[in-house]
Amino acid sequence: MGQKIQAVKGMNDLLPVEQKDFQLTAPLWQAFEETVARWARRFGYQQIRTPIVEQTGLFVRSIGEETDVVGKEMYTFSDSNDKLSLSLRPEGTASCLRAVVEHNLLYNGPQKLWYMGPMFRRERPQKGRYRQFHQVGIEALGFAGPDVDAEIIAMSADLWKELGISDYVTLEINCLGNREERAAHREALVAYLSSHEAKLDEDSKRRLHTNPLRVLDTKNPDLQEICNVAPRLTEYLGEESLAHYERLKAMLDGLNIAYVENPRLVRGLDYYNQTVFEWTTDKLGAQATVCGGGRYDGLIEELGGKPAPSIGFGMGIERLLLLVHEYGSLSYRTAADVYAVHQGEGADLQVMKYAQQLRAAGFDVLQHSGSQSLKAQMKKADGSGARFALIVAQNELSDGTVTLKDMQGKHEQTTVDAALLTTTLQQWKNA
Ligand code: HAM
Repeated sequence: MGQKIQAVKGMNDLLPVEQKDFQLTAPLWQAFEETVARWARRFGYQQIRTPIVEQTGLFVRSIGEETDVVGKEMYTFSDSNDKLSLSLRPEGTASCLRAVVEHNLLYNGPQKLWYMGPMFRRERPQKGRYRQFHQVGIEALGFAGPDVDAEIIAMSADLWKELGISDYVTLEINCLGNREERAAHREALVAYLSSHEAKLDEDSKRRLHTNPLRVLDTKNPDLQEICNVAPRLTEYLGEESLAHYERLKAMLDGLNIAYVENPRLVRGLDYYNQTVFEWTTDKLGAQATVCGGGRYDGLIEELGGKPAPSIGFGMGIERLLLLVHEYGSLSYRTAADVYAVHQGEGADLQVMKYAQQLRAAGFDVLQHSGSQSLKAQMKKADGSGARFALIVAQNELSDGTVTLKDMQGKHEQTTVDAALLTTTLQQWKNA
């Protein structure tokens, strides 16, 4: 026997059933995907699908070389033919914008787009944090807001409601200002933090020169005091930024969407400005953020397109579904409507024809494969969770009849003319 090969660390299989240390299943996932597709359509967003592999330069230029995501976590390799550096996408925004610019989609006016798929980051795996994880992303391109800022936040809130997890998530918002305001704040922050450099930890010392805003994000309790009195971005916001932020808050109030203002919320990717937000939960341990996003007004231009103010968010499917699994409500069915059993020569072919007839009428039919005793097959039918059993044995075959059994016992087992198969089951199902 050959040696077993295991999946790559931090990359999960989705099975039809729960695993010991990973509760998410393919049926739950599929129900979520269907819910998301309907939800996006309800808001008038159109789907875009882009490749999983992109040129590394796309992520360096958009997410930022100094971020953890690009600096430490990307799966990067060179294409052996032309030595081009390629990376597995760590997120969806950069790829989406690359495609929009490449295909000139904004020529037809602003775009409301969504996507869903796997993303890759070489992080330390733990519950809710994986190396292959999945996101649903929303990008509203060519809209200056703040109305669209409120719209996409309301859109996320709508999905939490549908998934039954509204009570378990909290919205945090912040305003990062425009480029000039951020630069002025950054200068003041670096000066302030430099004056306390001796007290900073290694991580913060490194970030001081690469991404000083993220120093404020530190979890180190010894640094809280220094961070609490650091220059605040809010003090550097101009009239326009403040008005944008105030209008967003007024709209959220008007939509009855509760939020917490978090002046320290900065996000881990470099492309944001003005509005940023995160939905967090206290139910998943350290991996608290289930959804995050914000404005990136300069990014499309940076990627070679015409300037187009934009906003979006990404949600982690695994984190959301762990919440849904534990606390939410997303109904889905795994069992078939009908389990079809057969015995005797020729019955397998006949039952296959009946099964096709039922499928055409809208029933999900699981057909028994292989030859086993009728009793063993009925046991399988029971274990499958199917609502009904369709039985074709020698008698039925010679008489042109079928035997039907309601596995929940609500109807008497009956043998009817094969012509009545579909109508009988329809009556039973609707009774
Ligand atoms: P992000 O905050 O890096 O933003 O990721 C969005 C969400 O993806 C996170 O809130 C989290 O739920 C999930 N996530 C991230 N890393 C992992 C991981 N290793 N394992 C499991 N889940 C994870 C973005 O990616 C932006 N592109 C969002 C965006 C779209 N901003 C504007 N448009």
